[in-house]
Amino acid sequence: MESGAEVDIWNYVFGYTKMAVVKCAIELGVADVIENHGSPMTLSDLAAVLRCEPSRLHRIMRFLVHYQVFKQEPTGQHSMGFSLTPLSRLLVKHGENTMAPFILLESSPIMLGPWHSLSARVLESGNISPFEAANGMDLWSYTEANPGHSKLLNDAMACAARLATPAIIEGCPEVFDGVESLVDVGGGNGTALSLLVKQFPRIRGINFDLPHVVAAAPKFEGIENVGGDMFVSIPHANAVFLMWTLHDWDDKECIRILKKCREAIPEDKGKVIIADAVLEEDNKGNELEFVRLMLDMAMMAFTNKGRERTRKEWDYVLRESGFTRFNVKSIQAVKSVIEAYP
Ligand SMILES: C[S@@+](CC[C@H](N)C(=O)[O-])C[C@H]1O[C@@H](n2cnc3c(N)ncnc32)[C@H](O)[C@@H]1O
Repeated sequence: MESGAEVDIWNYVFGYTKMAVVKCAIELGVADVIENHGSPMTLSDLAAVLRCEPSRLHRIMRFLVHYQVFKQEPTGQHSMGFSLTPLSRLLVKHGENTMAPFILLESSPIMLGPWHSLSARVLESGNISPFEAANGMDLWSYTEANPGHSKLLNDAMACAARLATPAIIEGCPEVFDGVESLVDVGGGNGTALSLLVKQFPRIRGINFDLPHVVAAAPKFEGIENVGGDMFVSIPHANAVFLMWTLHDWDDKECIRILKKCREAIPEDKGKVIIADAVLEEDNKGNELEFVRLMLDMAMMAFTNKGRERTRKEWDYVLRESGFTRFNVKSIQAVKSVIEAYP
């Protein structure tokens, strides 16, 4: 075997290990305890606070230091201690930019089960989604029936929204020029909209999602939570915002949703703002493209017919929904911003 291939194949053989060990560290609260401590923490201090068996914790930390999730530094008492890296700061559960809820969602048995049915889905006979094959119903019915999983999903979406929304505000603030009212369709627990309304206080926000999702959403100043079904009708506003909503659906369903969005905005000055991945035809240079391709696989595993789209595919669904023009803005994020006009 060529040595490069040998290294690569072991990465695939034990690919799940990294996710599992990081999940273990989140569940134990390793990053939280080190952050609270405020300086490098020895293994024995860490084990004492976490109430862990020291030699097993040592093996977990040795693995995570090797992958630069944590680092080791002198404690000042002739010993070494563990401290946070930019990566493990994202694992602090109550941190501002935490990604811990997303890792807990994706590593949950409910979300891991569907991957076992991916090949069955790719076959011509693969009629049901891997999620349904594993869990007996589609993702949105499952979240409605299981409030615990719904919370896990909404918390995960909220932490991704906390990363993406500032990138949108910074990368293309002009998108919100002149917008006085904004409805976030499939807005989850309202995190993205709350950040937009905070940045642009003139905007009156409507967070629109399935009734069980908005029933559990927190109240934010300047935002009204409205429950409903985007395939039936969408509350009226100057502009519609859809983040990671359309990628859950196939072209026909997207066109139905986008037509409802058109009905919700003024014909002359209204617009639809989509924050979703735009796959590049030639993507070799983009360091985030691998995430977009992974998301596309996640859409195949978790949704009935969702997918990530190229610019050409976005062009098709937007024109079929009656939008006359659109532009795509790249930002420092997995998502791009598409502005579409009636
Ligand atoms: C992938 S999540 C995105 C959440 C949020 N936009 C974000 O980026 O954080 C998709 C959202 O669509 C919502 N959704 C699914 N079906 C819906 C429907 N028929 N009407 C309204 N919302 C729906 C889900 O409840 C979920 O909150």
